[in-house]
Amino acid sequence: MLSNNYTNRLFGRTRGRSKKKINLKNYYEAVDKYKLQNYDEKLDYILDIGTGYGETSIFLARKFSDKVVISCEKYIDGNITLLKNIEKNKIQNIRLYNGNVYDVLESSNEKYFRLVWIFFPDPWPKNRHAKRRLITCDFLIKLHKILKENSEIYIATDSIIYIRFILSSIYNCKDYFLWLNQYEMNLHIKDYFDIETKYYKKAINSQRKPSLFILRKL
Ligand SMILES: C[S@@+](CC[C@H](N)C(=O)[O-])C[C@H]1O[C@@H](n2cnc3c(N)ncnc32)[C@H](O)[C@@H]1O
Repeated sequence: MLSNNYTNRLFGRTRGRSKKKINLKNYYEAVDKYKLQNYDEKLDYILDIGTGYGETSIFLARKFSDKVVISCEKYIDGNITLLKNIEKNKIQNIRLYNGNVYDVLESSNEKYFRLVWIFFPDPWPKNRHAKRRLITCDFLIKLHKILKENSEIYIATDSIIYIRFILSSIYNCKDYFLWLNQYEMNLHIKDYFDIETKYYKKAINSQRKPSLFILRKL
């Protein structure tokens, strides 16, 4: 299922700059092995969006071993790293979606998800690219529809422009989500979790402090 609406389109790269040769046939076979076949209504699912090299998916799979993590990413080099780490660590509860998160949302009519993580979504800082940003009120409402009651969304970013944009999206969605940590915005991500992703490290190396937003479904 492909999305043709502008806001649902995919932007950014699907391959790394190094253009290291990849056997795509082997890649898609490996992806297929980790594809979600069907949702099981007895289980709780976690949606991990834009996982890059998959550090968050490994972290979540270990932390919530009774839940199934759906790692959603279109970046092939990142997914290859994730697949290697799943095998190396013998992780059983990750399913991989190689593509656009909108497809996952559109294919899930029921409320299967207990948690959504979005770590360092692309900030698209230029005004002319603002429409590409993922976190809008419309997007949050789409997440609202697939979340179980009282479920939570975690969003991390180090971009001041995106922080402002997320704040206005949260405000516009105040009937759908409660912003749980609005009085704790100055805490560091490490005060919540011991996790470092590629973009977390980039932020710290550039002396930018990542902010974390925690929303609870109303
Ligand atoms: C800035 S990177 C962050 C990667 C990782 N979460 C981290 O913290 O290092 C954002 C990622 O989101 C992915 N992405 C952007 N839009 C997406 C979409 N609509 N569906 C799935 N992944 C998406 C991009 O491919 C990119 O790898």
